[in-house]
Amino acid sequence: HGTSQINDQGRLEIGGVDTKKLTEEFGTPLFVYDEALIRQRCREYVDAFRASGFQFQVAYASKAFCVKAMCRIVAEEGMSLDVVSDGELYTALEAGFPAERIHFHGNNKTPEEIEMAIDAKIGCFVVDNFSELPVLNSIAAEKRQNVNVLLRITPGVEAHTHEFISTGQTDSKFGFDLGNGSAYKAVEEASKLSSLTILGVHSHIGSQIFEVEGFRMAAERVADFAVQVRSELQVTFKVINLGGGFGIRYVEGHTPLPVAVYVKAITDAVRENFSSNDYPLPAIWVEPGRSIVGDAGTTLYTVGTTKDIPGVRKYVAVDGGMTDNPRPALYDSEYEAVLANRATEPAEEVVSIAGKCCESGDMLIWDLSLPKVENGDILAVSCTGAYNYAMASNYNRIRRPAVVFVKDGHADLIVKRESYKDIIGNDVIPERMKQAN
Ligand code: LLP
Repeated sequence: HGTSQINDQGRLEIGGVDTKKLTEEFGTPLFVYDEALIRQRCREYVDAFRASGFQFQVAYASKAFCVKAMCRIVAEEGMSLDVVSDGELYTALEAGFPAERIHFHGNNKTPEEIEMAIDAKIGCFVVDNFSELPVLNSIAAEKRQNVNVLLRITPGVEAHTHEFISTGQTDSKFGFDLGNGSAYKAVEEASKLSSLTILGVHSHIGSQIFEVEGFRMAAERVADFAVQVRSELQVTFKVINLGGGFGIRYVEGHTPLPVAVYVKAITDAVRENFSSNDYPLPAIWVEPGRSIVGDAGTTLYTVGTTKDIPGVRKYVAVDGGMTDNPRPALYDSEYEAVLANRATEPAEEVVSIAGKCCESGDMLIWDLSLPKVENGDILAVSCTGAYNYAMASNYNRIRRPAVVFVKDGHADLIVKRESYKDIIGNDVIPERMKQAN
């Protein structure tokens, strides 16, 4: 997919760059992002919203992959950015991301984070709960600033990957519940706080969703709520944010819809439900993360040891694992992979790909068909662009991999591989222990 192809040497090439060359230059494990594909995904969202006629913002959910070069791409594509912590905010600001297009999320923003975001003059806070409202208001008042807010509501639509179930009372740590009247009370309270301006409401129903029904249902419930609030509280929502969660194809059997189909379902649902109530059409915001970067990322590993248990299984270990991709261990996520240096050779054996961490659960792929694998082969795991580098750790004191962007036959390093110095960079030996030596 994207700009991946197999070259004349039978090797996987991404963005016009031979993966073998990439591993020689940058080492492994290595995250390789197809920049053209990231930009294509960004444009699919922006173009689909333009076609809808709605006012809109597409905010990239930076939690999926937040580094400075990525923030640059998002800015260049004219999109907004969703951040959920001081670290993501700092990254965006350091990348020169326009503050007015930054939205701040989170169920436990600290006073320090709120101050930092207000000082930076970000575009909007997504307020999550009743504790946050007065704190945000008073910090804004102290700084003599007015802040825009969206109120995050829990619409009672729970998306469970393939299916979605509708619950009257949603048990979630996030947001104001629609069903029990909390959302209504939140609007009532927020409208009395003089340093806050209510732009509208936010709803996020889940992640890796393949169907449009959940989004439609959320739009319908949000619209009913908007109508009620307008007539009873005289508050009109100018913005409806329907969150992220648009699925991608990791393996066969995953059936995401084209971006334009999700967007059309959302814009149609908002149009139907609002215009039938003579409600001035709000702007629509969305927050895709995974679907912007997920399939643009590939992880390259070097194959090390193998362990064959006759009649049982053959383990093939790579030089990374749960430290660069914790998703199989955390969520039982599935991935596909090929031997990047022998991409045209037919499959000859079924192997299971193990990571190098001291933990049996550190398995990346079970039962993968590959050509006969040898030490030194390059394994390319696809669709690792979202929530991999972002969730990487230093477990076992393994250094985080480097990240490169490839495009038009050229590779740029965008995150250096961690050094040994980085690993111990924050370690402190107390004086008394130094003396003991
Ligand atoms: N907006 C909100 C409020 C969210 O909570 C999320 C994801 C998104 C947007 C972006 O969702 P996306 O378009 O990426 O599905 N670590 C997990 C995914 C956690 C998603 C958390 N929230 C994983 O690796 O699958």
